[in-house]
Amino acid sequence: MMSLNEKTAARSREPLYQPLTVRGMTVRNRIVMAPMTRGFSPAGAPGPDVAAYYARRAEGDCGLIVTEGVAVDHPAALGDAGLDEKDVPYMAGDAVLAGWRNVVDAVHAADCRIVAQLWHQGVLRKPGTGPSPDVASVSPSGVWGPLGRQSSIAPESIPADPQVGDPMTEAQIEEASDAFVRCARNAIAVGFDGIALHGGHGYLIDNFLWEGTNKRDDRWGGDRARRGAFAVEIVRRIRAAIGEEYPIFFRFSQWKQQDFRATLADTPEELAEVLRPLADAGVDVFDASVRYFNKAAFEGSPLSLAGWAKALTGKCSMAVGGIGINQGVYDTAKTMAAVDNVELLLDRFERGEFDFVAVGRAMLGDAQWARKARSGEAIRAFDATADIRTLT
Ligand SMILES: Cc1cc2nc3c(=O)[nH]c(=O)nc-3n(C[C@H](O)[C@H](O)[C@H](O)COP(=O)(O)O)c2cc1C
Repeated sequence: MMSLNEKTAARSREPLYQPLTVRGMTVRNRIVMAPMTRGFSPAGAPGPDVAAYYARRAEGDCGLIVTEGVAVDHPAALGDAGLDEKDVPYMAGDAVLAGWRNVVDAVHAADCRIVAQLWHQGVLRKPGTGPSPDVASVSPSGVWGPLGRQSSIAPESIPADPQVGDPMTEAQIEEASDAFVRCARNAIAVGFDGIALHGGHGYLIDNFLWEGTNKRDDRWGGDRARRGAFAVEIVRRIRAAIGEEYPIFFRFSQWKQQDFRATLADTPEELAEVLRPLADAGVDVFDASVRYFNKAAFEGSPLSLAGWAKALTGKCSMAVGGIGINQGVYDTAKTMAAVDNVELLLDRFERGEFDFVAVGRAMLGDAQWARKARSGEAIRAFDATADIRTLT
């Protein structure tokens, strides 16, 4: 008969704590801090408090940090877009880059790796806001997206007319793409271990990918492959600029803030049309942004979106969404609490569905999350008010 101890013996979590090398970056374990906008970098420069905030997660045994979204060096990259984004960091300028160097050094000192998430808000940037309030917002077709959908955007920020601007010109597309490349170079120059691109959630790169915001009929629009051309161009140019040593992460999502039920792909074949060209251009890790890591992406298979991304491209993938927390981001139905769902995660991880697991809110709640999830120690729950307002 099994002893009580054997019966209750916790399943080993060690598979999640094995190192992995992607290009020149070796990560000590698979636990990643998910990118989370906080807005504590006055004039775009992360200070010692931001460095200490990231270093606390590194000291808490997190293997890799994806920074908060960092605005690329383009006048229309940043403004209000639904969050309190007044002090979002940039990735250009001496003071800003010196700040990032301190962040990177502090994280490296704790044996953790860090990649910078480059961000352009595209059509979600509210005109008249941000560091360059006078410039117009830019997007592939000047279209905000279909109205009347389930959205996380505050009703007063949803435009009455979905045509909010003009389609980007060739020159504007080139300028935006240049900004991503410049900032990728800057990030590598200050010591980041790789680059992460924000290609989801209804922002600029996603505006090109999604048919709801891309109505173009030139080489940047049309079918999935053509809508993917902007993302592919950026990845290709960044790869050429930073060389072969540094990994590129690409975050994509089916859902958009404008439309939670939106999809880029309704079948695995369609998803392959989106992701394979990106893999060929130089993406190493697909970060499949879903609200529940455990959800099947398509009918007929239990595989998650991260699972499909890996299966279809042969590249690494990263799961995210509801790890260590009992409700998905944007859900308000239940009281928020810490949960231990690491075993569910292990079921999929050990089947090889994904290589990294990104933890968002739970890691804001407890900087020691990665260490405690391994040992089974009690974890401090995320506090949706306090943990957002301060750099915990
Ligand atoms: C406060 C906050 C800020 C966020 N900012 C970003 C961001 O800058 N870039 C991004 O790709 N995702 C962002 N996200 C989404 C998270 O990266 C993550 O995908 C989401 O919170 C789901 O993970 P979780 O359930 O572990 O929190 C943010 C989430 C939160 C809670």
